[in-house]
Amino acid sequence: MTKPFNPLFGNRMLHGADYNPEQWLAYPDVFEKDLAYMKEAEVNVVSVGIFSWVSLEPEEGHFTFEWMDHVLHRLAEEGISAFLATPTGARPAWMSQAYPEVLRTTPERFKNLHGERHNHCPTSPVYREKAAIMNQKLSERYDGHPAVIGWHISNEYGGECHCALCQEAFREWLQDRYGTLKALNHAWWTTFWSHTYTDWSQVESPSPLGEQSVHGLVLDWKRFVTDQTIDFYLKEVDAVQSTGSSLPITANFMEMELFEGLDYWKFAEHVDFVSWDSYPDWHTPGKEAPTASWTALNHDMMRSLRHGQPFLLMESTPSMTNWQPMSKLKKPGMHELSSLQAVAHGSDSVQYFQWRQSRGSSEKFHGAVIGHDGTNRTRVFQDVKHLGTTLTTLGDIAGTTVQADVCILYSWANLWAVKETQGPRNDGMHYEDTLREHYHELWKRGINIDFRKPGDDLSRYKLVIAPMMYMLTEAEAAVLRDYVHAGGQLLATYWSGVVGESDLVHLGGRVRPLAEALGVEPLEIDGLYDGEQNTVSFTGGTGSVYDLCEITETNGAEVLGTYTSDFYAGSPFLTKHAYGGGLGWYVAARPDAHALDRLYSLLLAEADVQPRLQVPEGVSVSVREDEEAEYLFIMNVTGEPAVVDLSSEQLDDVRTGAALPASLHLDAYDVRVARTTN
Ligand code: GLA
Ligand code: ZN
Repeated sequence: MTKPFNPLFGNRMLHGADYNPEQWLAYPDVFEKDLAYMKEAEVNVVSVGIFSWVSLEPEEGHFTFEWMDHVLHRLAEEGISAFLATPTGARPAWMSQAYPEVLRTTPERFKNLHGERHNHCPTSPVYREKAAIMNQKLSERYDGHPAVIGWHISNEYGGECHCALCQEAFREWLQDRYGTLKALNHAWWTTFWSHTYTDWSQVESPSPLGEQSVHGLVLDWKRFVTDQTIDFYLKEVDAVQSTGSSLPITANFMEMELFEGLDYWKFAEHVDFVSWDSYPDWHTPGKEAPTASWTALNHDMMRSLRHGQPFLLMESTPSMTNWQPMSKLKKPGMHELSSLQAVAHGSDSVQYFQWRQSRGSSEKFHGAVIGHDGTNRTRVFQDVKHLGTTLTTLGDIAGTTVQADVCILYSWANLWAVKETQGPRNDGMHYEDTLREHYHELWKRGINIDFRKPGDDLSRYKLVIAPMMYMLTEAEAAVLRDYVHAGGQLLATYWSGVVGESDLVHLGGRVRPLAEALGVEPLEIDGLYDGEQNTVSFTGGTGSVYDLCEITETNGAEVLGTYTSDFYAGSPFLTKHAYGGGLGWYVAARPDAHALDRLYSLLLAEADVQPRLQVPEGVSVSVREDEEAEYLFIMNVTGEPAVVDLSSEQLDDVRTGAALPASLHLDAYDVRVARTTN
């Protein structure tokens, strides 16, 4: 099903928005005004139909495509493309009323009422059939339409359903996975508390009213939810492709922190290109750089999901959201900076939610390109228009890639397992924070970063960072061992290599599958209260550590640093092990920012990972490239001006064609897109 991306939508950057003209059918002058404003803002794509089911099928079996015919026809006339959505993210009330099985059941086994969105059962045969009918009709009518360039399947798939149909599907899924109940009982260690199942029908999804302590069950349920969501998605795809459609297909994904429910490594195998919706909380006081680096992390993750293929920024706000704790406006410069940051990390588009602000209902105060005033005179419109002009100068960058020497290992299964398991720190294991901190050390130095999942080939990287890889199978660990043996450098931390895929602990010692490569044998792990800390001293630095302190013996590794207090003072904090042609590094505790900074300076020097440009604090660099040129995005993410030394570079400003000066001055939230000259 997958096609090469490069560049999927031509030598142009896409610029556009979710567009919901069906909300405005009773306001006849709105649509033509919108088109005129879109042209003015250099919009070349809109996503239509996302929640349009009731406007397309107001009564069961009665279809009203005429308005959509008109919308697509006029878009084509104006040279604006469309991602055509399937409307399954929300459904009409008539359907919930006639077929209650389409509604979701909560973990407490309550049937939801009609309402909200994303409130459907992914297993329901009725919902699947209704979706298939709708999708096939959309495809019959619009595939091949000159405006339509791709399918936007549903919207932000997420959530889970615990109805009887889903329970049955879960049991079948388990039978496929384990074959026998005996195998399931062993994998889940159910003899504990006499939880052994003697019949498949006894297995139920996790519930606060029932079982939540069998971690293998909880993990498998989460895996099932991903598989069942993908299965539903594939039924949607089958329907749009039943007409012979070969348009590229995507499903818009969400930010990692807000959304940990689906294994996107798996989901991404089934889309033609990744797209995602990014809503950072810019301008949180004191957090500008961390917000920028967290957002960059998410962009890098999205690009990595399909191994480096460019992605699309499918949604972002042109100004503010209305669902974050504070609805903050973007300060001058931030719209361009945040948009180009996505491009810098591999996006070939900048798209918004939404084009025109709704008049009523829950998102009426969410930022939009055209606000309630209905004009192009706003600061927001002018920012969007300015960006549209900028994007027209970046067409050569579409389809270029981000090349990285460093990758971070990440898996959703590990995230679930770390969070789910009880002990050693039920007050918070801070796995995402740890990822964030390691990423930040690379980001702030302007180093390109990929993500890979355990088991992936790592041979192209000089350095692999594997923070808190608690769940690691033998086979996944073997890939890491081979990588180091062949000359790679691996950084592993405390709480790694503890369990296999069913959360069964590896016997023979923590970190056992990695022990050979790391040359350490961790014995115990200490949980520290919030506010409690230990101190460490190591080659290149000193600092504090907190949260978790592992106590380890070495078995061949060189000790580069130790704890300096508590009863394990003198025990290794940082070690390095020569294994084959490479190095296995091990960090026994969670360092503070100062210690982590020192540690990364040491590590990057040994791994010979160099930033492309030396940049002052608060400036980040990301590089895209093809055979002809390198494109350097130089971004000042702070409210203070900054100066970047370019004296040893020969760079042109892509927007103006002018040579960049030896000393580049960046205003607050300023960004330059530079191109190497030969
Ligand atoms: C999500 C949804 C949109 C809209 C925006 C608001 O990304 O996909 O429909 O609700 O959030 O920020
Ligand atoms: Zn269900």
